[in-house]
Amino acid sequence: MTLSLTEPLPLRQLSPADTRARITELKRVLGRRLVILGHHYQVDEVIEHADMIGDSFKLARFAADRKDAEFIVFAGVHFMAESADILTGPDQTVILPDLSAGCSMADMANVDQVETAFAALRSDQVMPITYMNSSAAIKAFCGRHGGAVCTSSNAEKLVKWSLSERPRMLFLPDQHLGRNICHLKLGIPLSEMALWDPHRLPEENLRAGCDRAKIILWKGHCSVHTKFLPAHVDQVRARDPSIKVIVHPECYLEVVQKSDAYGSTEKLIQLVEQAAPGASFAIGTEINLVSRIAKAHPDKKVVSLSGINCLCATMYRIDAPHLLWTLENLAQGVVVNPIRVDEQTAAYARLALERMLSLI
Ligand code: 13P
Ligand code: SF4
Repeated sequence: MTLSLTEPLPLRQLSPADTRARITELKRVLGRRLVILGHHYQVDEVIEHADMIGDSFKLARFAADRKDAEFIVFAGVHFMAESADILTGPDQTVILPDLSAGCSMADMANVDQVETAFAALRSDQVMPITYMNSSAAIKAFCGRHGGAVCTSSNAEKLVKWSLSERPRMLFLPDQHLGRNICHLKLGIPLSEMALWDPHRLPEENLRAGCDRAKIILWKGHCSVHTKFLPAHVDQVRARDPSIKVIVHPECYLEVVQKSDAYGSTEKLIQLVEQAAPGASFAIGTEINLVSRIAKAHPDKKVVSLSGINCLCATMYRIDAPHLLWTLENLAQGVVVNPIRVDEQTAAYARLALERMLSLI
């Protein structure tokens, strides 16, 4: 069969076994020039080829450390690949195997909306902090205004730092992560928080409390994690009173409050690893990760917190045929889907990312 290297569709005609064998062979051919990073939410057929698997923070750090790799193929979503590009050198190329692998939460804040909000807040007392799940332009905005990036594994430290620098904070773009960390970790009352809705007029947001709130939360959310509801916690506990409920902090506050523990994808994995054989867990996060944890621990009971399979549909776009297509092209000297952040944006975004890296 003649493969067209301009698009991955013909590669779908290969059997899974042939696809796997060809990826393995191309990895051997490309050697140390190539590194494949895989986020925990990726499907197994991609994860099995990853040189490093991690949460968004661990992968950003790994990308920054692998100075010798010419090509970094990012099996994750667009904002993660952008961050890798910002943290790597000019002679390194970051590739996203499918450009449609975005993040609906990151798309809920664009830089024009954020500029408008920040101008309306009119205050040098407000620190902008953005969750990693945001565009490079938003990270650059934070860097330019003295702020920083955080991830779900270090948000508490970054929020503490922010409040030690300035009395008020604008937290982008996930209202739930911001609310959970500020309320549950730092004890800030909900009455000191207000929601900035980019689809309302600035005056309306100001009148609704953003003019004085200590914590201004951007009205963004994850469409996967907000599928977990407090009733799901009650249901799994009714079925198994010994079950431990562990969730990602992108879930609703009410879900996190009812849980036994919460944390980044990396932390959720550790919690199951550290438990004694026979322990049972209901996990509120993306289904590919829950299934992988369940498979890795046959001596424990691991189920999804919800009966509905919560899948990150954009992560799911990266599959073995796309990975193979990327590598086939690379082996022939063709770079498909490079992620390049322009230098000015990258310089400010790097500031915000490096502030995070220096604080943890
Ligand atoms: P982590 O930072 O835990 O990897 O989460 C990233 C993410 O997109 C969760 O939805
Ligand atoms: Fe974005 Fe949610 Fe998917 Fe994470 S799980 S990448 S926040 S849409």
